[in-house]
Amino acid sequence: MTRVSSLYVHVPFCRHLCNYCDFYKQKFDAPDLQIEKFHQFLEASVLRHEQLLADAEFAWAPLETIYLGGGTPSLWGVDGAAFFRDRILPGPLAEEREFTMEVDPGTWTPALLEAWQGVGVTRISVGTQSLDPAFLKILDRSHSLEQSFDLLGELQRRHWNFSLDFLLGVPFSKARGRNIKAELDRLLEFSPKHMSLYILNARSKYPHAQAMPDDDYVREEYLFVSDYLRGLGFHHYEVSNFALPGFESKHNLRYWRGENVAALGPTGTGYLATETKALRYKWKVTKADVEVEQLTASELALEQTYLGLRTSDGLKFNSELSGVYNSWQTQGYATRDGDRLKLTSRGFVMLDSLMDDLFRHEALANRHK
Ligand SMILES: C[S@@+](CC[C@H](N)C(=O)[O-])C[C@H]1O[C@@H](n2cnc3c(N)ncnc32)[C@H](O)[C@@H]1O
Ligand code: SF4
Repeated sequence: MTRVSSLYVHVPFCRHLCNYCDFYKQKFDAPDLQIEKFHQFLEASVLRHEQLLADAEFAWAPLETIYLGGGTPSLWGVDGAAFFRDRILPGPLAEEREFTMEVDPGTWTPALLEAWQGVGVTRISVGTQSLDPAFLKILDRSHSLEQSFDLLGELQRRHWNFSLDFLLGVPFSKARGRNIKAELDRLLEFSPKHMSLYILNARSKYPHAQAMPDDDYVREEYLFVSDYLRGLGFHHYEVSNFALPGFESKHNLRYWRGENVAALGPTGTGYLATETKALRYKWKVTKADVEVEQLTASELALEQTYLGLRTSDGLKFNSELSGVYNSWQTQGYATRDGDRLKLTSRGFVMLDSLMDDLFRHEALANRHK
């Protein structure tokens, strides 16, 4: 039996559906009924999940990392905490654990924070996105700036560990001269230990598709924030994530390092691997069942390369690819650290094109073998 000690739960409710967002979610307009259905779905999933784990020869260990993502987990409410503890948790939590809950600033109360702290939450991820009311509006966010400040102030007073989500590449930001530094300075007054920096990824039908800033502008924004945060002691440990030392997200690192993570909730995706096989499963949204994908050795190798490049762990130096690695180093996209090659912030922002580079060279190297 292999043991799994990480769990992700997808909570699919949002009181407003932000027009840029692609996550699976439902508008929370009949809360009692929706929560009841969600609970039925989860209870049925737990049974199906135990069978899946047993078939894959996995067993639970005390949970070391838990992540409630969404959607908006804070809408699960005070009663959700007891349901989670009594019906979902597979066993005890590890004493040393990281248990994160995502919170939309417009959807919390002190009682909610206390209830979830009571069942083990240790970390809050706050969907701040921007600290400029005009851009919050453009982003179609339903929370106000005051609500962000109230939540951040409360978390700071309670000495909670929290992370902030911040969006770059926001429509109209170039035309209106978005002042990223002023927004960051205001955020940093709350002393976050962690920040997730996302570049807005908009679909073609996005209402502001015509007002998106160009790639060069977004790259400059990204490098500015990265340099600024690194100057303040933050570690740029993954393409989109920065942490003060010791505050890296343990849960997300498990995904990025290809370690086992179980999952529940509609569209929740789990990963289970042993020495000999690996599978990924994703929960359906209409019934408590999963789609399972067995990963082949070459798919795994590809993923490991991609995941290695995404994080500051980097890749093990491969002398067959030294040509491409050297050219990355010369251009400032990567550095060599012992036997590992790690992307710099300048490399992270070029990740997709560097991956293409790598595949071209790998394919070429294989052809000459
Ligand atoms: C599930 S949401 C966080 C919790 C809560 N739903 C909220 O929005 O406050 C996860 C994060 O993904 C980011 N996100 C959502 N849609 C995105 C998109 N299209 N491109 C880039 N980031 C996106 C946002 O920063 C958001 O805070
Ligand atoms: S609240 Fe969060 S999950 Fe919901 S639509 Fe907005 S960004 Fe997406």
